[in-house]
Amino acid sequence: MSKSFYITTPIYYVNASPHIGHAYTTIVADVLARYHRMAGDNTFFVTGTDEHGDKIAEAAQKAGITPKEYADKISAQFRALCPELMITNDYFIRTTDPNHIETVRYILQKVYDSDDIYFGSYEGHYCVGCERFYMEKELVDGKCPDHQTKPEYRKESNYFFRMSKYQDWLIDHIKKNPDFIRPERYKNEALAFLRDPLEDLCISRPKSRLEWGITLPFDENYVTYVWFDALINYVTALGYPDGENFKKFWPVAEHLIAKDILKPHGIYWPTMLKAAGIEPYQHLNVHGYWNSDQSKMSKSLGNIVRPLDLKDKYGLDAFRYFLLRDMVFGLDSNFSEEAFVGRLNSDLANDLGNLVSRTITMAIKYCDGKVPEINSGNKDSVLREAALKTVAEVESSFNDMSLHKALMAIWEFINITNKYIVENEPWTLGKDPANKEKLTAIMYNLLAALKDIAVLLMPFMPQTAQKILRQTGADESHGLDLEGIKRGHALKAGSPLIRGESLFPRITQDKEKPAQEKKVSLTDLKPEIDYEEFAKVDLRVAKILAAEAVPKSNKLLKLKIDIGEERTIVAGIGKDYTPEELIGKTIVIVANLKPAKLMGVESHGMLLATDTDKGLTVLAFDREPKTGGKIR
Ligand code: MSP
Repeated sequence: MSKSFYITTPIYYVNASPHIGHAYTTIVADVLARYHRMAGDNTFFVTGTDEHGDKIAEAAQKAGITPKEYADKISAQFRALCPELMITNDYFIRTTDPNHIETVRYILQKVYDSDDIYFGSYEGHYCVGCERFYMEKELVDGKCPDHQTKPEYRKESNYFFRMSKYQDWLIDHIKKNPDFIRPERYKNEALAFLRDPLEDLCISRPKSRLEWGITLPFDENYVTYVWFDALINYVTALGYPDGENFKKFWPVAEHLIAKDILKPHGIYWPTMLKAAGIEPYQHLNVHGYWNSDQSKMSKSLGNIVRPLDLKDKYGLDAFRYFLLRDMVFGLDSNFSEEAFVGRLNSDLANDLGNLVSRTITMAIKYCDGKVPEINSGNKDSVLREAALKTVAEVESSFNDMSLHKALMAIWEFINITNKYIVENEPWTLGKDPANKEKLTAIMYNLLAALKDIAVLLMPFMPQTAQKILRQTGADESHGLDLEGIKRGHALKAGSPLIRGESLFPRITQDKEKPAQEKKVSLTDLKPEIDYEEFAKVDLRVAKILAAEAVPKSNKLLKLKIDIGEERTIVAGIGKDYTPEELIGKTIVIVANLKPAKLMGVESHGMLLATDTDKGLTVLAFDREPKTGGKIR
């Protein structure tokens, strides 16, 4: 029987536009949802917006529009972010939706009828930013520790939820279910809250002060406290109380939040559920905070990082990869664009991008552009073992939410595959037709590994995974899921291989500079020479026959070239070109330069190249020249 999986994000306040922190939680939820769908689980994924309360009413007032108009505008921004980030949510909930209002009133009435809501008066310190009362001892220098603002002192008659009644039950539940709140540090934090007597929760606001909320079903003069309203979204979205989805998904509910809202989710929500006669959720998964410039993101510090800016500049998959790879789930992380570009260049352009481009180029060349046929005895155990080990590591990382570990395991597999190429030197085997069978088997194994890597990447980088699958000629019938990898379902012989664009072009850190600044000035022009002097330089058209790295050098390549005769030259382009992509290229060399030894290899000529924004480019032709032809 297939399993079910229910994942939720916090529903975001509509008082400000989405930033990288909101994008992170939603992307993590998306990765989980995609992973479970791939595993064949019945999956339901909910995100949305939290629209009532003082905070929104205040923001709307400042903007000179009604709270509803304000909520419509910002909620639309959060909704629009989903397709931009390729978020596959099944439902987008708004707390102003009529079905949600009805569910909140239903639960309030139920809890009221069972005498867990009473009328009383309260005074205390209220932080509008957090939308909650603070105990004296929770304040730091009299200020809210999260917002650094002095809370308002409020005294009013209100309705209260008997949260205190459920304190012992909750402590017991957390202790009996050690991963109810995870990672462990947050379980401990929740238990620390519960060491002090739990106060009852004020769950209403008088309409005389705040009208923007859900009217209590048992008192027309009050609206519901925004947290009591918002938390209920998680069951509204499933059609509580009678919906089929509620029966199916509630028992497996996984909430995803950041540490800022641990108290409402870890304390208020389970006790509310208990009082309403609903079973607790399965897990509360708590991640850390993204900071920017080592501090909390805030409008006043001007360090807010906007997800769409990064997506537009570097591409969605690179953005998703960075967020998921860089944050250890549960701990804080500092966002820096430099670190982002660093990872993009090393992990994505170098490791993954090069692996895909060199494998496909060689496979097209050595296997007539098609997935080759091999007999199963030739299937390689090194890459198979690596694939199986990676699947096991990815599965266990998903079980405990360590998505960065899943990516580390996939990258180890990528590196093993890159090493397999270096060790097997297909370009050397390709020189002798007697090696055909061995070479074909190596290429098949590499293509199968690429397919496996693409499948493993599907939840994280959906576009990249599809591009790789397309290049390897894979289709749905090849078992594109982890079970398919385990079964060893690889590729169909004869499927066409397709050479695609570079997956992740390298980014130079000075990319932002306007184009004209990059023009080279002519100040270093050399002194004039006459034609005779120029004519002494013998420039020739050369065809590259073979290429390999010079041992122990990180940029020298040894090239075997044809200029009417065969020669060896050494070129410092190893950081910009892989040996495989050079084979077959037509270039320009200085043919009469005195031979010189570079790292022990004698070079009989010099290749011509120039700089681009992304490293060196060799001089090439726009029509096919004659090999050995003179350049005039
Ligand atoms: N409306 C409440 C949640 C109600 S859920 C029933 C709320 N909204 S919020 O807009 O402030 O969103 C808070 C959540 O946004 C965090 O828990 C986290 O998921 C995400 N993040 C907002 N800023 C963040 C960072 N700087 N870093 C990581 N995630 C952060 O609280």
